Amino acid sequence: MVTLHSNESGSFSPKIDTNTHSLSFLAVRHVAPASLILVMSLRFIMLGDIVGKPGRRVVQQHIGALRREYEADLVIANGENVAGGSGMTTQLFNKLIKYGIDGVTLGDHVYRQRDIYPALDAAPNLIRPANFPEQAVGRGAMVLHNEDESKSLLTMIVLGRIYMPGQKADDPFVTIQRILDAHPDHTHTFVEVHAETTAEKAAIAHYFDGRVSAVLGSHTHIPTADAKILPGGTAFLTDLGMCGPYDSVLGRRKDRVVQFMSTAMPAAFDVAEDDIRLCGAFVELDDSGRAIHIERIERAADPDRAPFSQTND
Ligand SMILES: [Fe+2]
Ligand SMILES: [Fe+2]
Repeated sequence: MVTLHSNESGSFSPKIDTNTHSLSFLAVRHVAPASLILVMSLRFIMLGDIVGKPGRRVVQQHIGALRREYEADLVIANGENVAGGSGMTTQLFNKLIKYGIDGVTLGDHVYRQRDIYPALDAAPNLIRPANFPEQAVGRGAMVLHNEDESKSLLTMIVLGRIYMPGQKADDPFVTIQRILDAHPDHTHTFVEVHAETTAEKAAIAHYFDGRVSAVLGSHTHIPTADAKILPGGTAFLTDLGMCGPYDSVLGRRKDRVVQFMSTAMPAAFDVAEDDIRLCGAFVELDDSGRAIHIERIERAADPDRAPFSQTND
């Protein structure tokens, strides 16, 4: 495949893309035509962890208007909490794609639902943490293309290692670098850092400042107010927050979590239902892949409009 890439002077020069790894992604669904691909400015929206049915519905309600408002080339979402608050199923993944999401990432809850395992291996627009062992089902990076396939975004997700008990995650710094090295021709790159601590997300963002286009955090379900562009040109936000019910403890019924934490007695952590909001970020990249704009997105659900006004969706 012949592609055009921005060189350091900002003009374009042709290169032959011989990277078979990226081609294997392209070959399944986002098939690039065997013609010239212009690498140019790219606008994308990333949505935080979608939690249960309320989260799915608020995304469905707002996604079309958001895409138009921001003229987004791509919309990506973390879907690790879609299935009743934990994991993802093939049916729900297909629903998200039908709503208009181009690519889905999964974090530490990736393997909660076995139903999704075949899709993790087969779908070109669904990824699991990249710093899992190689034998783990699925893959950790994907190349997403806009509708006319004139633009592409190398997208990956890594797990943090601090306060993430039970995870078998390798060094996220090494993993991100390995993926970047395997895709040398990709100028537009996005790293989602799915981690508990603000410090680990900030450290990864600063380490890769100027070497990836955007570093956006997820996993805590709490949005942070620190969207900025780092000195080297990397867009950064510590946490996107969640798409789901905010009158809750991280999306779960607050009465149940309070009962468990205050009494040590087990309780069912059902997904909450009130104060439903969509949270994420919009990022604009220039021709070279450098970030030129980032802003937080937050939208409240309107319960009087579809799909909340419908009994089925
Ligand atoms: Fe998570
Ligand atoms: Fe989550």
